[in-house]
Amino acid sequence: MTHRILILGGTTEARQLARKLAARTDVSLTLSLAGRTENPVAQGVPTRVGGFGGADGLAAYLRETDVGLLIDATHPYAAKISANAAEAAGNTGVPLVALRRPGWEPAEGGRWTLVDSVSSAVTALGAVSRRALLALGRQEVAAFEAAPQHHYLIRSVDPVEPRLAVPDATYLLARGPFREADERALLLEHCIDVVVSKNSGGEATYGKIAAARALGIEVVMIRRPALPDVPSAETVEALAAMVDHFLVSHFLAPAAERGV
Ligand SMILES: NC(=O)c1ccc[n+]([C@@H]2O[C@H](COP(=O)([O-])OP(=O)(O)OC[C@H]3O[C@@H](n4cnc5c(N)ncnc54)[C@H](OP(=O)(O)O)[C@@H]3O)[C@@H](O)[C@H]2O)c1
Repeated sequence: MTHRILILGGTTEARQLARKLAARTDVSLTLSLAGRTENPVAQGVPTRVGGFGGADGLAAYLRETDVGLLIDATHPYAAKISANAAEAAGNTGVPLVALRRPGWEPAEGGRWTLVDSVSSAVTALGAVSRRALLALGRQEVAAFEAAPQHHYLIRSVDPVEPRLAVPDATYLLARGPFREADERALLLEHCIDVVVSKNSGGEATYGKIAAARALGIEVVMIRRPALPDVPSAETVEALAAMVDHFLVSHFLAPAAERGV
C-alpha cells in the first residue's frame, strides 16, 4: 500500500526532502509550488504548481487526492500558506508536520538592526543617502520606492518588473547559494554600506550576513512572521525521520501495536 504525502515547497529543503522521500516505495509524493518563480529549479519529483484557493481549497485538495500526511516545508516568511496548511489540516484531520529552518542569530561583531516589516526596513535606512543591498523577493522591493534618496543594488531570482521608480538602482539576477567570499567581493565592488535581509536561516544565503559582519556593514534584518505551532523538525534529516516514524505508527504497525 502506498501513502499519499503532499509537501508544500518552494525551498531547497523541500526539494531535498522530496527527493529523499521519493526513494521510498511505500509513499506516493506530490510537491506543491506556488508558481512565483519563472524558471523554478527542477524538483525531480511529481510536482503541481499554483495556489489551492485558500485554506478551504487546500482542504478540498487534501480530501480529493486522499492525502495521508501534509508537510509544510515552505519558506519561513511564507506565513499565509503555513496558516492555511494548519487550518486545512485541522479541518480535514490530515496530520501536518513542518520543516522549520532555524533563524540566524546575531554573531559577535555583527551590526544588526531588527525591524518587523519591509516598510520598517525602508524607514530604518534613514534620511541620508546610503548604498543598500536589497536581498529580498522581487515583490518586496517595491516598498523602497518610498525612499528614493538611496542607491539600491537589487538582487533577485527573476527580473524586477516594473523597475523601481528611484533614480539610482542596479539590478542583479542571481540564484543562491552564495559563498561568503563572493558576497564580500560584491559588497566591496558596489560600496554597499547596508544590507537589507530577511532572517531566512540556513547556509545558502548566510554568506552576505557573514560578509557584512566581516566588513563592519550594518544589516537591517526583517524579523520572521509568526507561524502556527505544529509538530516540526529543523532539518531535512530530522523531518525525514519524523515521517518514518509517522508511517510506522500510522500505517505499517499491526493494529494491536497502534492500540486500535
Ligand atoms: N516569502 C519568501 O520570502 C519566500 C522565499 C523563498 C521561497 N518562498 C516560497 O515561495 C512561495 C510563495 O511564498 P509567499 O511568501 O508568497 O507565500 P504566502 O504569502 O504564504 O502565500 C500566498 C499564497 O500563495 C500560495 N502558495 C504559497 N506557497 C504555496 C505552495 N508551496 N504551493 C501552492 N500554493 C502556494 C497560496 O495560495 P492559495 O491561498 O490560493 O492556496 C497562498 O495563500 C512559497 O512556496 C515559499 O515557500 C518564499
